[in-house]
Amino acid sequence: MSKKKKEKWTKENIPDLKGKTIIITGANSGLGLEITRVLSYKNPTIIMACRNLEKAENAKKSILEKNPKAQLDIIQINLSKLSSVKNFAKKFTEKYSKLDILFNNAGVMFASKKITEDGLELHMAANHYGHFVLTGLLLNQLSESENARIVSISSMGHRFGKINFKDLNYDKRYNKTVAYSNSKIANLYFAYELNRKLKETNSSVISIAAHPGWTRTNLQTAGGQIDDSKGQIRFWNFMNKFMSQNVEMGVLPQLRAAFDPDAKGGEYFSPEKFLHLRGYPIIKPSNKRSRNTKIAKQFWEISEKLTGYSYEIS
Ligand SMILES: NC(=O)c1ccc[n+]([C@@H]2O[C@H](COP(=O)([O-])OP(=O)(O)OC[C@H]3O[C@@H](n4cnc5c(N)ncnc54)[C@H](OP(=O)(O)O)[C@@H]3O)[C@@H](O)[C@H]2O)c1
Repeated sequence: MSKKKKEKWTKENIPDLKGKTIIITGANSGLGLEITRVLSYKNPTIIMACRNLEKAENAKKSILEKNPKAQLDIIQINLSKLSSVKNFAKKFTEKYSKLDILFNNAGVMFASKKITEDGLELHMAANHYGHFVLTGLLLNQLSESENARIVSISSMGHRFGKINFKDLNYDKRYNKTVAYSNSKIANLYFAYELNRKLKETNSSVISIAAHPGWTRTNLQTAGGQIDDSKGQIRFWNFMNKFMSQNVEMGVLPQLRAAFDPDAKGGEYFSPEKFLHLRGYPIIKPSNKRSRNTKIAKQFWEISEKLTGYSYEIS
């Protein structure tokens, strides 16, 4: 076992972040909220990129009550609506000239089939396409930082995911578990392909991925809430009791991806223990399919086509 594997990486490893600007999507709940809370003690300016403003204000208030010095700014974003993503990027770039860390964290899981106003399936729209466009629109600001990082949040569920290029919107068959898993392998294709593209141009920005194992948050019941399914909510609350870890542990892989000075672009951070669902963060490569460069390239091109947004990385 390597030395790196043995040591426990904790939030105490995060350096002081004074002068840094950080965006966290989905910062009003679960892992995004906990990342915001932990980082607020390290003195950066944090932009809480949230869809639900009331929840975001409550989340901000709850952090400020314990840490009055926290520098938190809320800018609204609905990642499943490309016009909202563009609006967010416009507001951010008008106000801030550089960005140090982008946490592509927001996500939806196990919802019934929905096609968004952009003509995209909901899981893929919120979890992948929205972050795809958001990251592209913020690349100039990321390049202004000395060592910027983009952290994409995937899941162990990526192992069941696959991009079905022949039926991207599930016109033939829809299954909510499949739709979520596919969006999570999509996060990895994006994170790795982006890193390759940044490397090719000698950019100082790196793209890394991480996953929180199984963490007790709103995620497990969010799909049931959207579908008003009490059975689904009861099932996941029951499973959470036995399988999950707390949110304080769940954020560590994402935080390590963002702040471990030894982390490299294209790596994937994961909890170490119990099927990689719990524990301290280590580097653990994602499955072989997710590292297929041909699929990643093809999926990137499709993402550009379907979102109507083309990257300019030079
Ligand atoms: N918890 C786990 O065990 C687990 C495991 C693997 C991966 N993950 C990943 O971790 C990330 C965070 O999930 P979580 O567990 O913290 O879940 P959560 O508590 O449900 O938080 C999800 C966040 O995403 C936001 N969101 C959802 N759809 C959005 C949209 N269209 N536009 C903007 N924001 C949107 C939600 O905002 P609203 O309040 O507006 O709904 C909420 O802030 C997700 O990417 C998830 O796939 C979690």
